[in-house]
Amino acid sequence: MQAWVIGNWKQNPATSHDVKALLDDLLTAVSTKEQPDIAGCQLMVAPSFIHLTAVSERLEGSSILSAAQDISAHSASTGAYTGDCSAQQVADAGAAWTILGHSERRQYHQESHDCLLNKMTHALMQNLGVVFCIGETQAQYDAKKTLVVIDTQLAVIKDLLAQKPELIAGLSERLIVAYEPVWAIGTGKVPTVAEVSATHQHIKQTLASFNDALENMTVLYGGSVNADNADSFAVDSMIDGALVGGASLKAESFLAIAQAFSRATA
Ligand code: 13P
Repeated sequence: MQAWVIGNWKQNPATSHDVKALLDDLLTAVSTKEQPDIAGCQLMVAPSFIHLTAVSERLEGSSILSAAQDISAHSASTGAYTGDCSAQQVADAGAAWTILGHSERRQYHQESHDCLLNKMTHALMQNLGVVFCIGETQAQYDAKKTLVVIDTQLAVIKDLLAQKPELIAGLSERLIVAYEPVWAIGTGKVPTVAEVSATHQHIKQTLASFNDALENMTVLYGGSVNADNADSFAVDSMIDGALVGGASLKAESFLAIAQAFSRATA
């Protein structure tokens, strides 16, 4: 199975100049490094909206895909929604995918079940793939509520299938789940590989229980993944790749993570 290594750039870099420098580094490394090094990996980066068109144009013809970090819940196309970007606009800007439900969106923008159901529907209707983020807080982890929390978050997918059964065709190629414990994001703290593996197994089983077409879905781990710990996650058969924040802002560390996952798929 092909591994996915996705860089979520969040609200970085600060300037177009720095975006260009990061892309230069990435593209140079991808073209000069022996392709077999990362051949087992699909790479993708998610810049902020303001940089999405330039990044997508720059990546056209390369092996790296681009994604948005979010889309509007209110309309799939156009409307009076100040500050929003729609799925159609994002696709038109050249993105093939969008991240949805990141814990920072849930925390700072109060994204709810219904909001995320709308966003997922809009994305898929506009032929965008979705990287759907789920994960528990530190308090929920301490209370051993991880699987309960995850089941509640995955119910968005269950409801999507109930409301739009026509979207099931090809969904296994257009939906990726990223398990990101909130307490592991940007903290340097990580769950054990065994914990991540067991949680991913639960996620895969839950998705398969929604519909036979969702058997063996791609599930990524995210939260303080770096060049030093990537190998340990990559060798686990339940971990199909990584959603990377901080370490995706340097080509060197991002590609080292890709190499780790590529080695593991070989
Ligand atoms: P860090 O890799 O910086 O912990 O961020 C993870 C993340 O939130 C990716 O979406």
